[in-house]
Amino acid sequence: MCGIVGYIGEKPATAVLLDGLQKLEYRGYDSSGIAVLDHSHHLHISKRSGKIQNLVKSIHQFHWPQSCYIGIGHTRWATHGQPTDENAHPHLDCSGTIAVVHNGIIENYHELKQHLQKQGHIFKSQTDTEVLVHLLEAEARHNAWPQAVGEALKKVRGTYSLVILNQKDPHHLIGVRKGGGGLVIGMGKQAMFIASDVSALLGHTHQVFYLDDGEMIILEKQAYQVMDWETQKLRLKQLLTIEWTPQQAEKGGYAHFMLKEIMEQSKAMEDTLRGRIDAAGNTQLVELSKINLKFLKTFHRIVILACGTSYYAGLVGKFIFEDILKIPVEIDYASEFRYRDPVVDAHDLVLAISQSGETVDTLVAIREAKSKKSKTMAICNVLGSSITREADAVLLTRAGPEIGVASTKAFTTQVAAIWLLALELARLRRTPTVSRRLQMGRHLLKMPIYIEQTLQALRKTIKPLAQRFSRYDHFLYLGRGINYPIALEGALKLKEISYIHAEGYPAGEMKHGPIALIDSQFPVVVLALKSSRYYEKIISNIEQVRARSGPVIGILEKNDSLGQQKVNFFIEIPTIEESFSPMISILPLQLLAYEIAVILGREIDQPRNLAKSVTVE
Ligand code: M6R
Repeated sequence: MCGIVGYIGEKPATAVLLDGLQKLEYRGYDSSGIAVLDHSHHLHISKRSGKIQNLVKSIHQFHWPQSCYIGIGHTRWATHGQPTDENAHPHLDCSGTIAVVHNGIIENYHELKQHLQKQGHIFKSQTDTEVLVHLLEAEARHNAWPQAVGEALKKVRGTYSLVILNQKDPHHLIGVRKGGGGLVIGMGKQAMFIASDVSALLGHTHQVFYLDDGEMIILEKQAYQVMDWETQKLRLKQLLTIEWTPQQAEKGGYAHFMLKEIMEQSKAMEDTLRGRIDAAGNTQLVELSKINLKFLKTFHRIVILACGTSYYAGLVGKFIFEDILKIPVEIDYASEFRYRDPVVDAHDLVLAISQSGETVDTLVAIREAKSKKSKTMAICNVLGSSITREADAVLLTRAGPEIGVASTKAFTTQVAAIWLLALELARLRRTPTVSRRLQMGRHLLKMPIYIEQTLQALRKTIKPLAQRFSRYDHFLYLGRGINYPIALEGALKLKEISYIHAEGYPAGEMKHGPIALIDSQFPVVVLALKSSRYYEKIISNIEQVRARSGPVIGILEKNDSLGQQKVNFFIEIPTIEESFSPMISILPLQLLAYEIAVILGREIDQPRNLAKSVTVE
């Protein structure tokens, strides 16, 4: 969702803030703004709708002070109010002394606004955020600063992360977190940073810590104080060392982050497997030591919770866990799970999957499962993120920063992490046989090579196909068994970045409805892998599409002459054991979506209406 950055220190604040906003732009990109104090403590603000470039231009066009040492910035993903200059953050109080940037939703903003308007506060925007700054102004009339912040927030309902700059308190920044939307603090030399995620801090510091729910931080250039904002009780924080480098968060010569991240998948998987599985195929996941061994050997069921692409990785996981462990596995959208009264208990292992670790639905779903005494585990890509701090155990995917809004390397590494977890549980639970388990482990170890070879071959073949199909308005993606989630993920990739309507379906379900859509203008992408146990059935599904004049693009294994005869166009991938195939069969679908979006001239890394990490409900 929105991206927040704040800085206090000896470097020119404007440059630090703009750089941070550029790094956070993938979180929201419909408008942006900054507010800074110069050394005479004058407050300067600039806000622009559109991309951050518009803000940078406006700052360069006007007389903007060089000597600013403190400031806040924001890149917005609109929830309340259109993406206009007025609705962009920071928001100012009536006297123009307090500036606020906000990520989240103020649920009772309507009643607060009416109340404040009656007191004479003049609102300039349609946002929920603006009530915060007027509330702060009102409370600061009766309370000392920063106690006024706590008093103001007691009146607010909702989830939020905030950073506040007050001209009357020119040597402090205040950050507050309640609910979703992380805030990370970076400790630099003679400088402190605060941001929505670590990508804004890379290049400045590796030493960070995160604010927990209900915490407020008061930042100075060389010191900080963290407290519970309601009770004012001080809290101690533990520093983490972030290993990501600034280069990892750059395009590295690729036209888009998405393409870079697709091409990095072999390396990302190698990193995810490193040190966790030996050459013989034996796993050793120290991460599981956080959960009682007896529980790991005896729990009854796995319940997987996730959203979007992570949900589809979880769906692949259902096949893997059930096949290997022979225990029931359920999977639910985190956004559905959290709002019912889910039936989970102390015999369940609840597995949350999230690239960012900040998706609020997944975070709240984990809390729900914990409240029902389930053991919780997270597969996550971001060290220190909210979900990693709340789950009982964490298995980090080591994909490196994923900046493209369309998730790619996160998906394949999540599937690899699921494999590691399945093999480790298989070892502990002594099922299946040792030789089968080790054989699967060795197969997993080969995946980085398969991925690399497949990607190199695909880069040459996908473009002409993308050219041929870029003008269609609708696509259907079909797969069966463990490749059914790949059909869903392939369709999601296409719709997210090209804005072409695409449906993913289990192929066997086609005849129960979607077949009515098929005609010569409705291309169907079919995952038809010769060595799959479903191959013959999939070939029948292809026949059914062809009989209705639907053009078929087959994802086929190499040298599948029957498959080649049956489809109109095909993309070849190597033959691989079916249960490992999702990590390969997704690759052509990622690239197809990418190349079609390039041809259509879409904003690939920042598709319309989307944001990388969904921290509002
Ligand atoms: O960070 P998370 O994995 O929790 O994010 C979940 C979804 O929001 C995310 O996968 C989204 O669907 C992506 N845009 C898919 O490409």
